Amino acid sequence: MSGSLFNKVAVVCEQPSVCYTRYHEVQDMKWKTRITDLLGCKYPILQGAFAGFGNWEFAASVANTGAHGMITASVSGTPEKLKEDIRMCREATEGTFSVNFTLTHSIPWNEMLEICIEERVPLETAAYKPDDLVPRIKETGLTWIHKAARVKDAIRAAKLGADAVIIVGLEGTGFKSSEQLPTMISLVWALREIDVPVIALAITLWRTQHPGPVIFEGGLIPAMVWTLLVSITAFTALYFLLFNYRVLIKRDEDELNNLKALLRR
Ligand SMILES: Cc1cc2nc3c(=O)[nH]c(=O)nc-3n(C[C@H](O)[C@H](O)[C@H](O)COP(=O)(O)O)c2cc1C
Repeated sequence: MSGSLFNKVAVVCEQPSVCYTRYHEVQDMKWKTRITDLLGCKYPILQGAFAGFGNWEFAASVANTGAHGMITASVSGTPEKLKEDIRMCREATEGTFSVNFTLTHSIPWNEMLEICIEERVPLETAAYKPDDLVPRIKETGLTWIHKAARVKDAIRAAKLGADAVIIVGLEGTGFKSSEQLPTMISLVWALREIDVPVIALAITLWRTQHPGPVIFEGGLIPAMVWTLLVSITAFTALYFLLFNYRVLIKRDEDELNNLKALLRR
């Protein structure tokens, strides 16, 4: 990837210097990108939001690695709890973190926004149009990132004044649109159209290509292992359930066919 393109992209996991250097070299590298400047994090890597378990502990443990943590506001649930969570996270880490607003959830976003403004915590909006919140965000100068699954939504957010945009490609999990394109296609398209930093989300690449110690020594392991174990267990259970249904359906089909054959005689 050319230097100029890489300057525009905050996180590109297949960037050779990340993937093929030794871990301690990566750790010692001084990263200076528009994202590290914007968010103040050591590495230009952002945690994703996670409905259900993206709490302040998770965000703090990511922030402690030097990446940028993310408190998922829907997990906090109320403005009061969000304020408390931001403060707990601040106490638990010297790293940086943002708050994610997933706008499809029905939560008092305006009150939540006031908490972010009061606490000066950057905001990541996602999943729907952030338009109603934009005037207040821009009026107060809060750092604002918008996450989009379609390039046209990312372009729109940049026009509305987002400080950075996140593109979730087709390989990304959890955030889908029927018009979504693969990460690298969306990314190259977005880079042509958008001047603010573009962050690519693709944990598939990260998971398979990053050296192990980034995961194992960085404090991410408990949350990630639990997530993995829960998803493997759930998918295994689902597999056996569906398999069982298939066997039962096949048995009924056979019985029905036998009955039909008997009646025909
Ligand atoms: C279980 C799960 C829950 C998620 N919940 C949210 C959410 O509440 N809000 C949000 O903006 N993104 C959510 N996401 C999307 C992630 O933050 C991230 O954008 C997405 O997984 C794409 O990145 P990836 O390629 O690294 O997986 C969720 C993803 C997963 C797997």
